[in-house]
Amino acid sequence: MLRKAFLMLCAAGALSANSARAQYTIAADKVKAKISPNMYGIFFEDINLAADGGVYAELVKNRSFEFNMPLMGWDEQKKDGGDGRVEVINRAEEKPENAHFIKVYIDSAGGSFGLSNEGFRGMGIKEGEEYSFSVMAKQEGEQNIKLNIELRDDKNAIIGKAELTPTDKEWNRYSVKFKASATVQKAQLYVWMSGKGIIDLDMVSMFPEHTWKNRPGGLRADLVQKLADMKPGFLRFPGGCIVEGRELNTRYQWKKTIGAVDQRTNIINRWNTEFSHRPTPDYYQTFGLGFMEYFMTAEDIGASPLPILNCGMACEFNTGELVPMDKLDPYIQDALDLIEFANGDVNTKWGKLRTDLGHPAPFHLKMLGVGNEQWGPQYIERWKAFTKAIKGKYPDVKIVSAVGPFPGGKEFDLLNKTFRALGADILDEHYYASPKWFLEHAKRYDNYDRKGPKIFAGEYAAQSVQTGSPKNKNTWECALAEAAFMTGLERNADVVRMASYAPLFAHVEGWQWTPDLIWFDNLNSYGSPNYYVQQLFSLNKGTDVVPLLFNNEAVAGQDGCFATASVDKNTNELVIKFVNSTASAKSTSFKINGSKGYQKQASVVTLRSDDKDAVNSLETPTAISPKNSTINVSGNILKLDVEPYTFKIVRLKNK
Ligand code: AHR
Repeated sequence: MLRKAFLMLCAAGALSANSARAQYTIAADKVKAKISPNMYGIFFEDINLAADGGVYAELVKNRSFEFNMPLMGWDEQKKDGGDGRVEVINRAEEKPENAHFIKVYIDSAGGSFGLSNEGFRGMGIKEGEEYSFSVMAKQEGEQNIKLNIELRDDKNAIIGKAELTPTDKEWNRYSVKFKASATVQKAQLYVWMSGKGIIDLDMVSMFPEHTWKNRPGGLRADLVQKLADMKPGFLRFPGGCIVEGRELNTRYQWKKTIGAVDQRTNIINRWNTEFSHRPTPDYYQTFGLGFMEYFMTAEDIGASPLPILNCGMACEFNTGELVPMDKLDPYIQDALDLIEFANGDVNTKWGKLRTDLGHPAPFHLKMLGVGNEQWGPQYIERWKAFTKAIKGKYPDVKIVSAVGPFPGGKEFDLLNKTFRALGADILDEHYYASPKWFLEHAKRYDNYDRKGPKIFAGEYAAQSVQTGSPKNKNTWECALAEAAFMTGLERNADVVRMASYAPLFAHVEGWQWTPDLIWFDNLNSYGSPNYYVQQLFSLNKGTDVVPLLFNNEAVAGQDGCFATASVDKNTNELVIKFVNSTASAKSTSFKINGSKGYQKQASVVTLRSDDKDAVNSLETPTAISPKNSTINVSGNILKLDVEPYTFKIVRLKNK
């Protein structure tokens, strides 16, 4: 009798424990949508010193004296009674793509006269690493000027040195390698000249030998590694507003970014002057990271290249300059030539150029963006001309079309309606909004037309204060809201084919826009909590979405929870993503139908913090970062306890 009562009590206890758990169902055999292998990717723009001063590993700022103030970043130096002077020469008629060089007069036979370069907020130098200094030079007269190269730390101590004697009377490139004896965050480069005479200098450059894939003049390895670690499906480049330029003159022109670096015309970076609260007067584009490097990086990290091209319109937030329709052809030709450059064989003009630049294999370009954040009828007119020409020659290339800078409103509505009617391939939607907006719009795509254009969530980021505010932080609250929203992207993977957070990179001292995915200084970098959200979605996307329901409805905010499920046909797993956006823990139970059962242990990745305002930093780079654990599975039931403010991913392996 007693035993019976005890058993009844236990059963009641089990029942109440179960009924306290929110009951979710998953139909593991009912594929709702295929997830694009390109689903989660990268948006790259040279903003916040992302390229020059960032991932492009050049350490010398204003190496070719092309800034508006041609000696910006440089200082004259004298020692031991040495003297001299510098003239800036403009040879624009002869060499418009690299108009300036300096002529240095060394006036005294004793001592040295020199120039120091401050780098981009200093130069990050690592003990024991090799550095390669190079310069274009030509001597006049006696040819007896010797260069002494020194790296100095912030206390002026020498931490590396080398010698070089440019002997030629014609322009020639000279280089020398040397090792650094200390690790310094803000070193400076000194180029001392001794002897008597005149020497011309241009392209004064210094790179670490260790770069991504150890390519000379290459990219910062730690930063590209962070991108590779995301296993991105695509790489969108080169932006962003930088594609458009403040005015047409400073738009991005890909043909000027390939080939020898001294022939890539430098221009002012549009983010130099964009925000009066974050002016960056020394921000220029050298295009050392140009289209060839973008394509190669995409290839290196297994991402599909997605270039975005100017469509004859400058940024509509700035001048909004337009190319007249009868002058649009060169812009369209740039697009056609780019496709040939990426995909053409050696018998084509542009395919041959790619081959000559060292890459005979095609880059497999499948998508191309026509314009960034454009709006208005003037865009539609230009878009039609581009589309006709591109589809006429390359019908298989998918065109990515802008639908304005906002996720709604009259600009969006006009383009959305028009491009749907015109049968556009892919629409590029952008949303920079509050975390609340992201939570509230997790169902945004649930009712989108399944037969219409595909969606590229091309730029998004939750803003902790307000879009454009310099006070925005990469808080856990923002990252968690993005994770919640992304469950909605994934649930609608038949419509949403690609998504990327923006912007990507920011130098901790040189940024203009915040929040950003990855932050760095001259030596180190860290992923924000948002980075880990992006990475976890990418690494755990699965191949096919299956229904995950609560009370027969998609899980998109009920009780502050968001969830999605997919199967991974490659690994034979079920993947559950669950976001608890609230301050209280959740007990959940998943009943999984349509499976032959799962192995007894599933793997769990947890990303969380009790503090919604918590951030990562250079000092605590992994404060919020994924933690691995395991959980028991009983038959087709998974009971999962989810802590407050938590994003969890569970992978269950089929038996
Ligand atoms: O990501 C920063 C900027 O935001 C991009 O350049 C632009 O496309 C958007 O307005």
